[in-house]
Amino acid sequence: MFTGIIQAVASIAALRDQNGLRTFTLDFPEGFCQDLAIGASVSTDGVCLTVTEILSPTRAIINGRETILAGTNNYMGITFEEDCIAAGKKALDEFGTGTTGSRIANGSYALHTQLEQELAQMLGREHCIVFTTGYQANLGMIAGLAGPRDTVFLDADSHSSIYDGCTLSGAKLVRFRHNDAADLDKRLSRMEDDGGGRLVVVEGIYSMLGDRAPLDEFVEVKKKHGFELLVDEAHSFGVLGPNGRGLADEAGLDDDVDYVVGTFSKSVGAIGGYGAGNDPMFDMIRYASRPYMFTASPSPASVATSIAAIKRLQAEPERRERLQKNSARLYAGFSDLGLQLGCDVVSPVIAVTCPDEPSTIAMWNALMEAGVYVNIAVPPGTPNKTCLLRCSVSAAHTDADIDRIIELFGEVVATGVHLAKSA
Ligand SMILES: Cc1ncc(COP(=O)(O)O)c(C=O)c1O
Repeated sequence: MFTGIIQAVASIAALRDQNGLRTFTLDFPEGFCQDLAIGASVSTDGVCLTVTEILSPTRAIINGRETILAGTNNYMGITFEEDCIAAGKKALDEFGTGTTGSRIANGSYALHTQLEQELAQMLGREHCIVFTTGYQANLGMIAGLAGPRDTVFLDADSHSSIYDGCTLSGAKLVRFRHNDAADLDKRLSRMEDDGGGRLVVVEGIYSMLGDRAPLDEFVEVKKKHGFELLVDEAHSFGVLGPNGRGLADEAGLDDDVDYVVGTFSKSVGAIGGYGAGNDPMFDMIRYASRPYMFTASPSPASVATSIAAIKRLQAEPERRERLQKNSARLYAGFSDLGLQLGCDVVSPVIAVTCPDEPSTIAMWNALMEAGVYVNIAVPPGTPNKTCLLRCSVSAAHTDADIDRIIELFGEVVATGVHLAKSA
């Protein structure tokens, strides 16, 4: 068996051991698949979660029970808007179910070009390229821009797609401390000018803890050293800024950011990703980017849905206001419960820190039993090896939903379930 599969099975088995459930055997492939099926029927762990029905942006039937969704990144609550669904259906009728190839091979559909133009306009950028997923957008942009002669500076807490983009580029990777512009400054000062390009990548809102890059500080370092700055606005596009463009928009620093990347899988409620910038050579990235060239282009339905959703995000700034209000309500409620939170600013990503993996799993299971779904996040996928119950707030949550989420967290904490398990 391949090493990657053995590692994956072992880590799932470890997680399920801690959860007090039966573990996987290593009889891959039959045993593995069988056990997954059995696991799905006896447990609610994250690996085996079955969502049978989505009732609305904030409700689903999970394992047979109606559940409040508080961990699905549906920030704008836009997944069931009639016009977005109608746009998707129309595209299915007119363009079919799939593109069956990359744009380099099969050409662009009019919808792809329209989405790029509308997005460029919304972002206030000259150029925009649409990718099939947000993950591929980071891969494609970073590896399209940087090559083996260049250096990419990454925040230590960067999303895996950013790390993977850097690996694919072949560039030298330099990590700096999370959100620490002084550390970046130090590393740049130490580096000899080798003639290569220098790209710094930060995120608008960090997906695990919900904190934001101190963009003004990074821009100061940029003025001193001169590098290209790329901001991944995956969790901030549609969410932050007077125009909903993201953190750079909120900070009034659009002009200081060279490239932005984002995804349609969160505030846009579809699937796909984008990169945008003003460099006159920007479109060359299409030909330098394997994740653009060697994969099928986004499906017509998804592209049409994204176009409709992006129009709504621009026309309905009240969604951002509502999201902010809801986030503040949840943040205050959790703070009143005495929960330890991932960051000290109100954010649509609110992460509750738990003492260890067993306690996090116990808490998560108790919350699922109580009827609220949040994300469970444990090392190695978390910053500083923290264990988190990660909530993402939606503009579609009502005050009553938020209060119920707080109440259920309160009830679960009061039972001491996490302390009992970790003792
Ligand atoms: C910061 C960040 N960038 C990129 C992505 C990839 O986006 P997608 O899931 O749409 O491929 C994610 C996904 O969670 C993310 O959190």
